[in-house]
Amino acid sequence: MATVLAIETSCDETAVAIVKNREVIYSLMASQIETHRQYGGVVPEVASRQHVEKVDWAIAECFKNTNFSWADIDGVAATCAPGLVGALLVGVTVAKTLAIIRNKPFLGIHHLEGHIYANYLSDPNLQPPFLCLLVSGGHTSLIWVKNCGEYQTLGQTRDDAAGEAFDKVARLLDLGYPGGPIIDKLASQGDPKAFPLPEGNISLPGGGYHPYDSSFSGLKTAVLRLVQKLKQEGTALPVSDIAASFQESVAKSLTRRAIACALDYGLKTIAVGGGVAANSGLRKHLQAAADAQGLRVLFPPLKFCTDNAAMIGCAAAEHLNRGHTSPLTLGVQSRLDIKDVMQLYN
Ligand code: KG4
Ligand code: ZN
Repeated sequence: MATVLAIETSCDETAVAIVKNREVIYSLMASQIETHRQYGGVVPEVASRQHVEKVDWAIAECFKNTNFSWADIDGVAATCAPGLVGALLVGVTVAKTLAIIRNKPFLGIHHLEGHIYANYLSDPNLQPPFLCLLVSGGHTSLIWVKNCGEYQTLGQTRDDAAGEAFDKVARLLDLGYPGGPIIDKLASQGDPKAFPLPEGNISLPGGGYHPYDSSFSGLKTAVLRLVQKLKQEGTALPVSDIAASFQESVAKSLTRRAIACALDYGLKTIAVGGGVAANSGLRKHLQAAADAQGLRVLFPPLKFCTDNAAMIGCAAAEHLNRGHTSPLTLGVQSRLDIKDVMQLYN
């Protein structure tokens, strides 16, 4: 029964949480979105500096707002890969320092494993094996979750990640950053059938399509061409219809691949993770397709789809319960394949 203080600073959220196994005791997310919005995306150096400014305060809030003290904490965890190196370094350095001062074990956590573990916050009784559809700003993967620390990637994007596609399409429609939530909202007022858009199929040399891999750069280009054409025609841009058609195409593409993969591998549950797991179009399509196939589909609580420290704490608590701890010499890594996650532990 491990209780963990967890820190997540891999991108633009300074997040801390106290998690007891699969129960969130306290979770705080200090978003930097307002700062980065003026640049249209995350500026790494600015992100690192803001993490430095916020992280001590955020940790103090965890103890101030709960009746937990250091005596209740069994380990200190931080996201150590993948992510922005300078940003990761802030959380990892703080976690290691606290671990030394308070004489607690330190755990480095893989960010994507955290997104998988967000599903345990929806259903604490969830058990591997299951399939995770991981859709974030940096990743679009189908991951076979075999056990804690044991993962096999079965499908991925060949170019842009799903969240990245939302952000790029929002930018070309002048909607602002981050694009996902804005497009999701506009799509609810538009017609998803207004403009047929490609679903990003990857052709195989012998004919047919790759069943699990996806591509989103062609879809983004198709939206760009559509916008250029409509502008040339002098029509007022039907932004809601474009947003709805784009979202429909992403949702259908992800759903088709996830269902095919779950059926082929005999996995009865599809758990979704990452910022795009919040998308209402994806939730609707995947739920309907899973119901039709007798599969179970699980989403994290909405507030734990995008980056947060509760999911990091949940993964860390499970590793700690299994006796996994990280050496204090552990560094941060901008990239690390999820299959190599056990490299992080003694
Ligand atoms: O998981 P996350 O917070 O950070 C990464 O690890 O990348 O995901 C952020 C991504 C952004 O691209 C954002 O536009 C997207 O998730 N996102 C959404 C929604 N909310 C966030 N995409 C579609 N629909 C949403 N409701
Ligand atoms: Zn993330």
